[in-house]
Amino acid sequence: MTAVLLFGATGDLSRRMLLPSLYGLSVDGLLAGDVRIVGTARSDLDDAGFRALAAEALAPHVGHGLGDQARADAFLGQLAYVPLDATDMSGYARLAQAAGGNDQPVAIFLSTAPSLFKPTIEGLAGAGLTGPNVRIGLEKPLGSDLASSAEINDAVAAAFAETQIFRIDHYLGKETVQNLLALRFANVLFEPLWRSEAIQHVQITVAETVGLEGRVDFYDGAGALRDMVQNHMLQLLALVAMEPPSHFTATAVRDEKVKVLNSLRPIDGGRVSSHSVTGQYGTGAVGGKPVRGYAEELGRASSTETFVALKAHVDNWRWKGVPFYLRTGKRLETRKSEILIAFRPVPHSIFGEDVRGMAPNRLLISLQPEENIQMSLMSKVPGLDRASIRLREVALDIGQKDAFADTRRRIAYEQLLLDLIEGRQTLFVRRDEVEAQWLFIDGIRKGWAENGMQPRPYSSGTWGPSAAIALIERDNASWND
Ligand code: BG6
Repeated sequence: MTAVLLFGATGDLSRRMLLPSLYGLSVDGLLAGDVRIVGTARSDLDDAGFRALAAEALAPHVGHGLGDQARADAFLGQLAYVPLDATDMSGYARLAQAAGGNDQPVAIFLSTAPSLFKPTIEGLAGAGLTGPNVRIGLEKPLGSDLASSAEINDAVAAAFAETQIFRIDHYLGKETVQNLLALRFANVLFEPLWRSEAIQHVQITVAETVGLEGRVDFYDGAGALRDMVQNHMLQLLALVAMEPPSHFTATAVRDEKVKVLNSLRPIDGGRVSSHSVTGQYGTGAVGGKPVRGYAEELGRASSTETFVALKAHVDNWRWKGVPFYLRTGKRLETRKSEILIAFRPVPHSIFGEDVRGMAPNRLLISLQPEENIQMSLMSKVPGLDRASIRLREVALDIGQKDAFADTRRRIAYEQLLLDLIEGRQTLFVRRDEVEAQWLFIDGIRKGWAENGMQPRPYSSGTWGPSAAIALIERDNASWND
């Protein structure tokens, strides 16, 4: 690789994730010292200005487990900056030049407003930066519905082959998400049970404690369904539900995921009120601190949902009758992302029906804040028993925590940038997946509109509207709070 081109290089994602991730790759010896990292954005910076911005972004990492100052200085020396108005076609030649000429291998990362994708791609094409050596990474949002997403996909496809296009869903870069594949397909234990005969339901929770975080313009036009469910949560669902791929390759894995996404039962107008709940946070307290409600943060009333819970189904043999409960929201009680596989009870209890402590097995895959996989098993409580034995749930950690305690915890983007630079697409989303995701989401939004559904208020620092609890408790299950 000769160059990495970062569009939106002065933005929040670049500072928080992309620059520290590239630096992480450099520290690990995975990014050669002669690769040019060219940042571009509208801001009128020069190389020194961009290096200063990057130095600030790296500061929390340098010396805190990630290299030292000399290492960081060497990395900063690889950075260059070209100011560019993405809609001005005359600026791209300079960019191509900074990238080392137009037939060199280049990894491009677009983390700009999607409205700039089309002009940017035209500019890149005009400057000859679309050859077979070039790969392009696209950060979300990839549209706001199926039609706008198809438009973006068409614009990219006009200049790049699908094998050059890397659609990012940063959840796929998370360690535990990939570990889910190891768990399912590198062990013989789980797969025979991974089906409706043994699994009663699946829960996927992505709970955040943050609010709008200054993203007013974007978030109010998106909402939780499009911001989180359309991409991250449906990808998690697809990885849980997919059939075993024949290989860990981009085509095999994505072929299986897309089958799941195409098997999602539509939550349409007739079902939205029983299968979905939306909410919007009001005032409350998070972590002991009072916080404002969404409307106050926004400065006006809004009907955008900051919470959504769904009861979804995958209509195929394996998952017949197994609900997938999904919920995500801002300003919830605690920050946690997890997948819970709730197994069925034993078919017959030899210890009697009213034995104390008996509970169905559960497999909890925690993505954050801790990365861990935990299996709950029934065990005998030690001691003397008379009539029957006493049982208690014990947790068996089968995850990262202890086994890999001395391994550095990486930012999801480190894996994704490495794959973009080296050309592996397994952890990126293919066009047909994104479009299947949008089709499902558009159906829900249409149902909400037809039914005049408005988000229900919930207090910040809680688990969302009570209707979300009812959604799962109606089926005799409960959220893993
Ligand atoms: C982003 C959403 O895709 O994911 C944000 O736009 C959200 O609203 C973020 O906060 C959550 O990511 P993570 O990795 O912190 O769970």
